[in-house]
Amino acid sequence: MAHDHLIEMLDLDAQVLSDYHRDLIAWVGREAPANPHVVDLGAGSGTGSLALARDLPGARVTAVDVSPDMLAHLRARAEAAGLGDHIATVEADLDRPWPALGPVDVVWAASSMHHMADPGFALRSAHAALRPGGLLVIAELDSFPRFLVGTPDEEVEAQAHAEADKARHEAGMHMHENWGALAGRAGFTDVVERKFEIALEPPLDSGVVRYAEVSLGRLGERVPGLDGVVSGLRGREDLSVRTERTVWLARR
Ligand SMILES: C[S@@+](CC[C@H](N)C(=O)[O-])C[C@H]1O[C@@H](n2cnc3c(N)ncnc32)[C@H](O)[C@@H]1O
Repeated sequence: MAHDHLIEMLDLDAQVLSDYHRDLIAWVGREAPANPHVVDLGAGSGTGSLALARDLPGARVTAVDVSPDMLAHLRARAEAAGLGDHIATVEADLDRPWPALGPVDVVWAASSMHHMADPGFALRSAHAALRPGGLLVIAELDSFPRFLVGTPDEEVEAQAHAEADKARHEAGMHMHENWGALAGRAGFTDVVERKFEIALEPPLDSGVVRYAEVSLGRLGERVPGLDGVVSGLRGREDLSVRTERTVWLARR
């Protein structure tokens, strides 16, 4: 997928995941100290960093990513949202020894842990970065968003996702890990796991239809027939969004 399409898709997550982010950040807010310093690992285009800086009272966010393009985009979004003073960016490869991040109250990793070459190393580094009693938040996708459930095109979408899952597995990505157990092995305690079901019903607004186009567009070449479905998405009234996330909270 072209980088700008990935950025666009991650930005559009803000709209699709807004209720989920509100619930999740409220939960984190109940567990975190006041005015926390949050480190957002693999912050991407900034959807999590911006939501945290906006909705977690007094939060100061350090957004870490290996991609300078992502961080430049994140910085521009933060400035445009009037949150520039609350968000710092750090370019770093989290598969290598971590830079000094200062005292950290919350480590937030949304859809980024599965990218790490060695999740055990990343979790031990997160443990070392946190203050005693600090909070680890890992959010991962159980399933990528489905838009065509209950429509005649459900099967072609399911096949495309099956192919993409296979490719991610072959590329060595750590999807569907038990992050709670891995966090425990890295020294974290008090692990809590919660599932979030995200469902948007038809008709979807145009921003979410664009999200469907970008998300399904990146799967287009995998299964014959999907390209035609993608080019016909605009104007359809039977599209919905179905996706599930699992979130683990744990303490240093
Ligand atoms: C799927 S995106 C998730 C972005 C963001 N957390 C969100 O929820 O929208 C994964 C991000 O992790 C970053 N990433 C992947 N491997 C990394 C590494 N070794 N060190 C730092 N960042 C990494 C990528 O550049 C990308 O921005």
